[in-house]
Amino acid sequence: MAKIKSVFFCKNCGAESAKWIGKCPSCEEWNSYVEEKVVKTNGAKPRKKKKANPAYNINEIVPEQAIKISSGDKEMDRVLGGGIVKGSLILLGGEPGIGKSTLLLQSAIQVKTKVLYVSGEESIQQIKLRSERIGIHNTECYLLSETDVLKIESQIDETLPELIIVDSIQTMFSPNIDSTSGSVSQIRECTGSFLRIAKEKAIPIFIIGHITKEGTIAGPKLLEHIVDVVLQFEGDQHYTYRILRSIKNRFGSTDELGIYEMHAKGLREVENPSELLLSQSSEDLSGSAVAATVEGARPLLIETQALVSTAVYGTPQRSTTGFDGRRLSMLLAVLEKRCGLALANQDVFLNLAGGIKIVDPAIDLAITASILSSYNNISISSRFAFAGEVGLSGEIRSVNRIEARIYESDRLGFEKIFIPHNNLKGVENLKVNIEVLPMKKVSDLIDALFADT
Ligand code: TYD
Ligand code: MG
Repeated sequence: MAKIKSVFFCKNCGAESAKWIGKCPSCEEWNSYVEEKVVKTNGAKPRKKKKANPAYNINEIVPEQAIKISSGDKEMDRVLGGGIVKGSLILLGGEPGIGKSTLLLQSAIQVKTKVLYVSGEESIQQIKLRSERIGIHNTECYLLSETDVLKIESQIDETLPELIIVDSIQTMFSPNIDSTSGSVSQIRECTGSFLRIAKEKAIPIFIIGHITKEGTIAGPKLLEHIVDVVLQFEGDQHYTYRILRSIKNRFGSTDELGIYEMHAKGLREVENPSELLLSQSSEDLSGSAVAATVEGARPLLIETQALVSTAVYGTPQRSTTGFDGRRLSMLLAVLEKRCGLALANQDVFLNLAGGIKIVDPAIDLAITASILSSYNNISISSRFAFAGEVGLSGEIRSVNRIEARIYESDRLGFEKIFIPHNNLKGVENLKVNIEVLPMKKVSDLIDALFADT
């Protein structure tokens, strides 16, 4: 007799409970528990290990050189810390439609190793059509349209690939568990199966995981614990730029960043991102300022644009793309309280070029400058760059990697860079042509930019 059991799972962190709980005791999220029926069927018995692995003394173990195979994509290799480590399980997360399948399919058809691309979402004909658009260079790429992990495993034993790609974990199911694919228990079971396959056969496996904005499907946290590497693919669907970040990496740093552009023929690596994210016009327009940011280990110059205009309706609007809305409110409050700007009856719109999301706090100074520029209707030269975090009392706080920011601005031919005063030590002797201007407070910035007006 099949045994049916009802279990409650936290959608956010995957914690399990025998009864429903309002607040998850492990991640403290409210209302995240969902009920799932777990059935242990008699037919397909869960496998059991036959032979125990022996234990070794740590001093007797000779470390294998971590063999890293190239993914056929320079940006991805860099984000992974040099390449794909054998036997690793890599999760690629991102919102639906952002380009996850394209990114990994591109690797599969361009890498020089035997690849098995398993898709539970598309038929092999659809994948073939897409591959032809991108260009096939791999003579040993095998496509499989399947969702049952046990069948996939037997196909792996037959094909003997050196790299496996699973698109996507939400469509996979294991017959050992009776809940539907995409449910928390199925995702956990299937990821566990792929982890075992990766480790036992020493084959690296990429798994794609959809992340919805509301986190309605199993939250990403659930898988993050299990896998070796977590990559995130992000960007705005209405723009062409995409960023590949690593959030967790057991074999390298999480500092690296890959930047791509979506074309009709797949994703293309962007080698000089700073130049693309700057304004194309040579005219200086009011309301825009260039931020010298560092994303991961990479300096990135990006144009910030603000529009400040009198509110027509009662409550003024604040709207941002690529920047945290609460942070904007804080910057506006600082400008109002410390610098006497009357912003309470103004609409403020903020935009970062290319639909890219920046988390570096050093972007504050450029945003403040663009708001000031739009408010005063005076343009700031597009040859000026800004880097600095703005504090609650209007002070400009020091930021990390200031040398990288100065070097990149200098390399791109900027004339001046405004930096926090506290960052001045150590950068005085840099051999650069750019003029470095230290700022203590936001009011210093106002004086420096608009003194003669
Ligand atoms: P896809 O990889 O299917 O996204 P995901 O797997 O993350 O859901 O790609 C989605 C979008 O990419 C799709 O809307 C069309 C676009 N695209 C291109 O612009 N050029 C291309 O060459 C390909 C393959 C896709
Ligand atoms: Mg897809």
